[in-house]
Amino acid sequence: QPVHLSDYQPPAYRVTHTELTFDLDPASTRVEARLTIERHPEAAPNAPLFLNGEQLTLESLLLDDEPLAESAYQHDDKGLTVANVPAAFTLATRVRLAPEENTALEGLYQSSGMFCTQCEAEGFRRITFYPDRPDVMAVFRVTVIGDATREPVLLANGNPVERGELEGGRHFVTWEDPHPKPAYLFALVAGDLACVEDHFTTMNGREVTLQIWVEEENLGKTDHAMASLKRAMRWDEDSYGREYDLDRFMIVAVNDFNMGAMENKGLNIFNSAAVLTHPDTATDAAFQQVEGIVAHEYFHNWSGNRVTCRDWFQLSLKEGFTVFRDQSFSADTNSAPVKRIQDVAFFRTAQFAEDAGPTAHSIRPEHYIEITNFYTLTIYEKGAEVVRMLKNLVGWEAFRRGSDLYFERFDGQAVTIEDFVGCMAEASQQDLTQFMRWYHQAGTPEIDAHGEYDYVNAEYRLTLRQRTPMTPGQTHKQPLHIPVRMGLVGTKSGHDLTLTLDGEKRGKDTVIHLREAEQTFVFTDVAEAPTPSLLRNFSAPVKLHFPYSREDLAFLLTEDSDGFNRWEASQRLAMLALNDLIAAHRNGVEKVMDTRVIDAYRALLTAPVNDKAVLAEMLKLPSEACIAESQPLVDVDAIHAAREFVRQSLGFALRDEFMAVYTANVSSKAYAPTPEQIGQRSLKSVALAYLMAVEDEEAIERCQAQFDAGHNMTDVRQALTLLVHSSRDELAAPALKAFGEKWAHDSLVMDQWFSIQVSRPQEDVLERVKYLMQHPAFSLKNPNKVRALLGAFAQNRVNFHRLDGAGYALLADAVIELNRLNPEIAARLMTPLTRWRRFDDARQALMQAELERIKQEPLSANVYELVEKALA
Ligand code: ARG
Ligand code: ZN
Repeated sequence: QPVHLSDYQPPAYRVTHTELTFDLDPASTRVEARLTIERHPEAAPNAPLFLNGEQLTLESLLLDDEPLAESAYQHDDKGLTVANVPAAFTLATRVRLAPEENTALEGLYQSSGMFCTQCEAEGFRRITFYPDRPDVMAVFRVTVIGDATREPVLLANGNPVERGELEGGRHFVTWEDPHPKPAYLFALVAGDLACVEDHFTTMNGREVTLQIWVEEENLGKTDHAMASLKRAMRWDEDSYGREYDLDRFMIVAVNDFNMGAMENKGLNIFNSAAVLTHPDTATDAAFQQVEGIVAHEYFHNWSGNRVTCRDWFQLSLKEGFTVFRDQSFSADTNSAPVKRIQDVAFFRTAQFAEDAGPTAHSIRPEHYIEITNFYTLTIYEKGAEVVRMLKNLVGWEAFRRGSDLYFERFDGQAVTIEDFVGCMAEASQQDLTQFMRWYHQAGTPEIDAHGEYDYVNAEYRLTLRQRTPMTPGQTHKQPLHIPVRMGLVGTKSGHDLTLTLDGEKRGKDTVIHLREAEQTFVFTDVAEAPTPSLLRNFSAPVKLHFPYSREDLAFLLTEDSDGFNRWEASQRLAMLALNDLIAAHRNGVEKVMDTRVIDAYRALLTAPVNDKAVLAEMLKLPSEACIAESQPLVDVDAIHAAREFVRQSLGFALRDEFMAVYTANVSSKAYAPTPEQIGQRSLKSVALAYLMAVEDEEAIERCQAQFDAGHNMTDVRQALTLLVHSSRDELAAPALKAFGEKWAHDSLVMDQWFSIQVSRPQEDVLERVKYLMQHPAFSLKNPNKVRALLGAFAQNRVNFHRLDGAGYALLADAVIELNRLNPEIAARLMTPLTRWRRFDDARQALMQAELERIKQEPLSANVYELVEKALA
């Protein structure tokens, strides 16, 4: 039952007006829809009308106010087909549904007693019969009827236009949204909610009321989201000339939510974890994530809502562009280099892993079985990387002109990725034909680079060869247009050399364009032997191989003018040492620490610091997941052992330096999520982690003191993690207990409590997961809990990949249960099992057996699609 892009047909009928009435009841909600429908002028007069509808009880169906005879329509589990309809008519339906039974969290459901909706991508069809496709855009008028005591607050998109009391303690509010929108942007919220209100005046003087709706007890956790929202609104005006277009903008926090948040027109719905913060309960990382997600959903108002997707194959049109926009916003608001480093570190770990697995797909896929499975790192993050390349290729000014053209030309329309790139080509007068391959070709391109310095002719010849490994369904790959930003750093002077390429002076930092399978770039007038600094700022989402020596890397680590590539050098240097140790572990040879790495770290720790957050990133070793991505075959135990060995060696060798850094960065200032404070705390955290790798008395004392002082969640969580992950149970147990008791009332903090204890390296973790699944704070029905406990466990590589297969079995059991409750979460949770081909034979067999066991179940489309791909 796959859907193919090539089968796309424009809709034969469009809905101009959608009127909905909801009579809310947990067990039996009544939904009345009155749709004003027109046949498309180009559609055949006898074209049937199709309305999606799933899991709905149909009570009545009227065409132009006349009941439709049963023979006039066909009703199956996918929807309604009406064979003969006039060119213009109204269709009225009445259906019933049971929000309290909706555990999939798609459509209308209940979360902590309140009603809420999630319609993207295809949830609206579980609310009413409708052409549930993004290229059908209508003006909505929505009446919500609820119980005046249980649901005092009744929200929908747009502006409230009418409200009143009804019999039996019920009341209603009617909302109108003047902007035509596809059904996936519809939203409704009803419950006992409290709100924090603020105001924003747009660049043209529109007064906008801003509201964040939360459960009463969370009123103290909205300040940061509100401040972030106002910054984002201003930023979109300043950077993209985009202004808000309604009189109110609402955010609602809900506890049960499959993803981070949703950009419903004027009524964004958020996972409470993606909006609520307080210094005592949320870490710096959470503060930054909230800021980014609030901005992301707000930015969708233009990149997604005003201009939307023609079909779901175009998902990256709105997601890639919007992620790029939110990344740029966060870079402008905080430290730009750190933002880039963190995004790239995550991207190379998680997106590269996706590309290397059975679900690898292009940014614009050709077919899918379940679109929900395509809300992926490739669509979002790689999509954003491609938009970033586009911006760099044409330059900011042409990019901005292209963006203006796109929003102007396609306002109110549902369009394609070609439309977007077309605007950029038009505005920049550049040919982007080859560039388009980035959207069609799956997989991570790899560049093999090597360079030669010709002393006699003062030339540097850089040869780049590209290849993209084959991915499922795509065996043949064409060369991509890869922009490689670079410099040549004089090995003697330590300075960037002026670049002359093909007789043209290029300055000290330039972009070379690799378009062929192989190209050689000859730089002339190169006065001294250089070390190349390649792919600066990660100018393209590729793997770059260059035979750097450790001396080269130690040199770039301090001398590269590009901050991003200084970090990159630190990671490459660590990787070289890690690879030796992984080999030593496998061969049963004694492990010896490379002293050049220690020297490089010492130099970093003792040099004057200009950006503490960047330094912290440089001192962090690549994660086990990141290391795994660089290995041909993943040896879980060798990777863990090698990384632990490096951590401890550095901790021992540089104990005094780390202690000095730690002490220098302890602060008693009141918490603020400013870039300066965040940088200071992250440097302090890294130092403490190295000190705790040694676990001497003084380190333990500092760590315990940081935990006990409880200044803010960033400090407390880091200290708790280190105590819990230490080898001494007399440290771990009391800290966990104290924390768990103190925060038992706070669900988001308890999520952290779950994650911390199941990420530790000790061997008792699997038993602990089983035990915690019975904890009163845990529920398989809440996606945040599933992620915090089971998701975190699956990231705990040594324990998840236990050789007895118990980790796999535990995950598979949860997948099987979730397949019935919440297929989207089931499919996501299962992802690590689908990557079985990356491991040794014994583990392969165990993982495959669990996939086969899952396959025996009656499967949801979500899990089915993944299992099929994984076993293909
Ligand atoms: N458009 C939303 C966002 O980017 C995500 C919606 C995801 N929906 C889903 N069913 N997975 O921010
Ligand atoms: Zn989005």
